[in-house]
Amino acid sequence: MTDWRSVPDLLPTPPDGSFASDNSAGVSPEVLAALSAANAGTALAYGEDSWTRRADTALRDSFGAPVESVACWGGTGANVVALATVLRPWQAVICPDSAHIVVDECGAPARFTGATIVPVRTVDGKLTPDAVDPYLEWLGSEHHPQPALVSISQVTEMGTVHSTDEIGDLCEHAHANGLLVHVDGARIANALAATGSDLPSMVRDTGVDLMTLGFTKTGSMYGEVVVFLRPELAEQAVFVRKQAGQLASKSRFIAAQVLAMLEDDLWLRNARRANEMAERLADAVSGVPGVKLVRRPEANSVFVTIPGEAIAPLQDWSFFWEWDLGASLVRWMTSFATTEEDVARFAAGVRAIVAPHVPRDS
Ligand SMILES: Cc1ncc(COP(=O)(O)O)c(C=O)c1O
Repeated sequence: MTDWRSVPDLLPTPPDGSFASDNSAGVSPEVLAALSAANAGTALAYGEDSWTRRADTALRDSFGAPVESVACWGGTGANVVALATVLRPWQAVICPDSAHIVVDECGAPARFTGATIVPVRTVDGKLTPDAVDPYLEWLGSEHHPQPALVSISQVTEMGTVHSTDEIGDLCEHAHANGLLVHVDGARIANALAATGSDLPSMVRDTGVDLMTLGFTKTGSMYGEVVVFLRPELAEQAVFVRKQAGQLASKSRFIAAQVLAMLEDDLWLRNARRANEMAERLADAVSGVPGVKLVRRPEANSVFVTIPGEAIAPLQDWSFFWEWDLGASLVRWMTSFATTEEDVARFAAGVRAIVAPHVPRDS
């Protein structure tokens, strides 16, 4: 077996770009320009500014509905504000076991809502109506937390994309049983780009009640927005936001980023680019011995299994996150900033480092 550390000359140069996360990318130049433009003059703080008013209007136009929007500093905070606005402490959230709200937010949604977050096992990160059923039996029993909301991620943490029909079916089932539906849309733009859908079709018409609308992954510097599709649900949202420390004083800079992202569909163009680079990466590594694609990329991530011994050396060469070490499952993620050259170099490194770890008889 080749130990690449002893023969570094055999290795290609690592890519300039990172495949660790779309969060590793910088900021879209258009967003930086918008931040700079918003820096002219003074404006009232805490959302009492013209950028915030324009962003609210732009979001209503994007959804084709009189949505209420509440801008927050980040994704975890926005999820907290969304959930804490509509939940009481004795209630329960049903979500996939891979959900960011249950795995990656240090328990913030549970802490701030007081509600029980119930993670449900899924194969591909998608929650189906059937998977919710066992928890509906808790309804009405004082011994159980009362299911009040279903939360899904679009794109899921497993890189899969719900179809609009899947979201619609889940909403119908949830609503028929008195539950709300929340979408963690940190990567909703990637899902829209992947399916060719739009916010009205994917979110409004399917019946989603509230969502976290993400911009950071597609090129903003910071700032995510909680969107209430049923405006009456938003009644207490600003108080929750302030208490949760999610009200930015210089809110104009979040609004300016939202406006830049929505203008000429920059967020969708960026998402499309990221998705295309994932496709390209999947093609480039699919023939490499030892690399098994879990599925074709549905958005901007490539999930593969590689021999366990290859993971650390490959990470040392160009870092990425393992997703399930027991299963040798890793995630390679692309962004709007990923270049063809990055993909070519990363694939070359994968070939150089992974292939020597493949057992001869496999
Ligand atoms: C599905 C999902 N939701 C929410 C977030 C936002 O988290 P943060 O608090 O890091 O902005 C992320 C970030 O990785 C995410 O992947």
